[in-house]
Amino acid sequence: MDRNLALELVRVTEAAALASSRWVGKGDKMSADEAATSAMRRALGSMDINGTVVIGEGEMDEAPMLYIGEKVGNGNAHEVDIAVDPLEGTNICAKGMSGSIATIAIAPRGGFLHAPDMYMEKMAVGPMAKGAIDLNESPTVNLKRIAEAKRCQVEDLTVVILDRPRHDKIVSEIRRAGARIHLISDGDVAPAIAAAVTGSGIDMLLGIGGAPEGVLAAAALKCMGGDMQGRLVFMSKEERNRAKDMGIDDFDRIYTAEDMAKGDVFFAATGVTSGDLLKGVRYFAGGAETHSIVMRSKSRTVRFIETQHFFDHKPSF
Ligand code: FBP
Repeated sequence: MDRNLALELVRVTEAAALASSRWVGKGDKMSADEAATSAMRRALGSMDINGTVVIGEGEMDEAPMLYIGEKVGNGNAHEVDIAVDPLEGTNICAKGMSGSIATIAIAPRGGFLHAPDMYMEKMAVGPMAKGAIDLNESPTVNLKRIAEAKRCQVEDLTVVILDRPRHDKIVSEIRRAGARIHLISDGDVAPAIAAAVTGSGIDMLLGIGGAPEGVLAAAALKCMGGDMQGRLVFMSKEERNRAKDMGIDDFDRIYTAEDMAKGDVFFAATGVTSGDLLKGVRYFAGGAETHSIVMRSKSRTVRFIETQHFFDHKPSF
């Protein structure tokens, strides 16, 4: 694929972040999500791709835009599959809390796991701890292995976990093991990526979150040489049937980052509200500044991009 796609992708996440940033703190997560989704779709329309959304805003009958199966791009050139979350962390954005992002990944056709909208157990670490994690082992064993790989003590590690009652047991175990914990209210894609960024202060993402978000995180971690494992969590028979319809037959399978995002993968994200990975959208007279990350698995280049947008020169603002 054309390496220039990376910069095109940043334009897409910048547009979504700028649009949703107008809704920060306004208590209206639906409007924030709608703003991000329509801006992202508009920006995708001018890309030189023949894209199909495989991870999106929902099934065709439940999402008006960027639904699963929707064709995006101008139809020229690259045949790609697209995974999007125009506003990851809608509640965070609506409450003006930290860590919401606009994000997208693309892969050659068939590259992404078609993850149903259900839960996934996830474990993500950066390149130094690649090969050290195993979802079949306890958090204690994993923490010991990560500490060994990173040549530090378990007490030096910081684990990010969604603050949910379902995680009470692993939170207690991690505390007993001695690691530090950063509980988050929502948005587990950015911290999974932060685990692979030196100096972010995050060593691991652990716990159960959305499966589609798991695929996006996997795309990013693959680009960074990090490691991730995910296993679908079925809450009902209907969820098993839905997964089956989407081509999943081994319900206990542990997916690696490579299983979830195959081939030459591109990933981009732009901060909406500031978090461990990215700064949020900051306004100044006549414009705003965005902070993004963009990367490609083939070259392993990771770019952090700060962009100044001047609204007088952008007709859509
Ligand atoms: P939004 O769909 O509102 O953006 O929420 C995203 C998210 O917080 C993910 O980051 C996470 O994987 C999942 O929801 C957690 O789900 P739940 O809130 O049901 O625990």
